[in-house]
Amino acid sequence: MAARAHTTLRLTLALVGVIAAVLVVAARQRGVHEAAVDEEDRRRDQRVLGRALEESAERSWRERGLRSARERVAAADAHVPEIEVELLEESAALDDADASPSAAWERDEVLQRREPQVLRSFLRIDGPGGQRRALALTTPLRDEVSYVREALIESAGVTLVLLFAATIAALWLERALVGRRVDRLVARARSIGAGDLAEQPADPRMDELGQLSSAIEHMARALASARQTLDDEAYSRVAATAHLRRSDRLATVGTLAAGLAHELAPPLHAIDGRARRMVEAASACPDLRDAAAAIVDQSARVQRIVEELRDFAHPQPTARRPVDVVALLRADLELLDPLLRQRGATWTLSPPPSASTRPLRGDADQLRQVFTNLILNAAQAMPGGGAIEVVVASDRQAPRELVAADREAARRRFTRITVRDHGGGIRPEALTRLFDPFFTTKEVGEGSGLGLAVAHGIVSDHGGWIAAESVLGAGSVFCVWLPELSAPRDAAASPRA
Ligand SMILES: Nc1ncnc2c1ncn2[C@@H]1O[C@H](COP(=O)(O)OP(=O)(O)OP(=O)(O)O)[C@@H](O)[C@H]1O
Ligand SMILES: [Mg+2]
Repeated sequence: MAARAHTTLRLTLALVGVIAAVLVVAARQRGVHEAAVDEEDRRRDQRVLGRALEESAERSWRERGLRSARERVAAADAHVPEIEVELLEESAALDDADASPSAAWERDEVLQRREPQVLRSFLRIDGPGGQRRALALTTPLRDEVSYVREALIESAGVTLVLLFAATIAALWLERALVGRRVDRLVARARSIGAGDLAEQPADPRMDELGQLSSAIEHMARALASARQTLDDEAYSRVAATAHLRRSDRLATVGTLAAGLAHELAPPLHAIDGRARRMVEAASACPDLRDAAAAIVDQSARVQRIVEELRDFAHPQPTARRPVDVVALLRADLELLDPLLRQRGATWTLSPPPSASTRPLRGDADQLRQVFTNLILNAAQAMPGGGAIEVVVASDRQAPRELVAADREAARRRFTRITVRDHGGGIRPEALTRLFDPFFTTKEVGEGSGLGLAVAHGIVSDHGGWIAAESVLGAGSVFCVWLPELSAPRDAAASPRA
């Protein structure tokens, strides 16, 4: 602000300086001109007065003598104070007029002489008997310098008034026309520097400041788009790295699981076979029979886990067919209905199966496994019972994370299946580990922690994405995105539940 006022002041002073120089030159010329006009006026005055006096002095001399003529001249001298009038000898007048005595001095001829400080005029006065005298008129003259000085003093006053008025006007105009707009531009540049790239309207005027404002807003837009690109790339890198890390981890666990399943299956088979035989043989001894029956139960449970491990390690080669996902969910929910009721859970499915939704291409058994786990997890999260909402929404875009890991996904259309519960929710530290194999918070026997890991594998295998959101104390939402059928050949085949 202070710097700008200095600039304005400097500009004003420079302008006033130029104007003052012009005024000085003009004042000098005016002074010279006025001096010339003044001299010309005085010459004329002397001529007019001289001629008027010439006649009356001659007449007085001729009629009443020289004395009377002198009185006449003295009266005129007293009457016109700015011109001194006197009667001289002719020779003295010629001397004063610097004229040669031999040269003829015509009657009515006015000799005029300019001296530094005075202007003098001489006229011939003819008396009786050929006598001659001369009428001398003298006017003091101001020299040219005094006129110029006067004009300069006048100009100096004008310059001072001009300087004062111009400074006030320049400061006011600077503030009104430029200052506020420059302040806004400076504030905008600072806010961009501080990272605020949100779009703002540019100064609409078409002058230089308006153009500068448009250029600044254009720059802000370019910066915002560059920042968005950088953010997207960083996000893609992080998502892709997380995806790779999870895939690595699953591959390692898969190898371990495959080994375990391979080693555990034969001894389990043997234990199960022997225990069954013991149940049959120990009919006489109820204690022994019950113990053997417990071994059969537990080995069956371990066998289920081993099978899950095998599924996880070596997913079965899948048969991909068009799948009507709403019908599939309906069948699954109806199958689970008795179990859900037992836990006090109710369910809703929208849209109803009759609504036309696009078919997916996938393995119906594997997809059912995914949804069964999500629905059971939801029921288990609400020990006191509650509503489970399942929503199918067609024609969705792929989630950003999937596009980051697989750019092709951006071109496909997806169906999103949402399973929402109103249970206790998931802690933030658990949210990042949900899809890890064997991650469970359930009691021994309630869950093995493989459900979501297997679901993740199946969904990825189908070219889809699974994600969870949760608010502690309010419930959780699991979303599954699956690509819709696009090839006409696939669509022609009849969907099955
Ligand atoms: N809807 C949910 N609400 C709260 N927590 C959940 C929900 N779904 C999953 N979880 C948490 O994620 C963990 C892992 O779930 P996942 O389905 O993989 O295994 P599990 O249900 O424990 O066992 P399994 O599915 O193998 O029987 C659960 O133990 C639970 O802590
Ligand atoms: Mg589960």
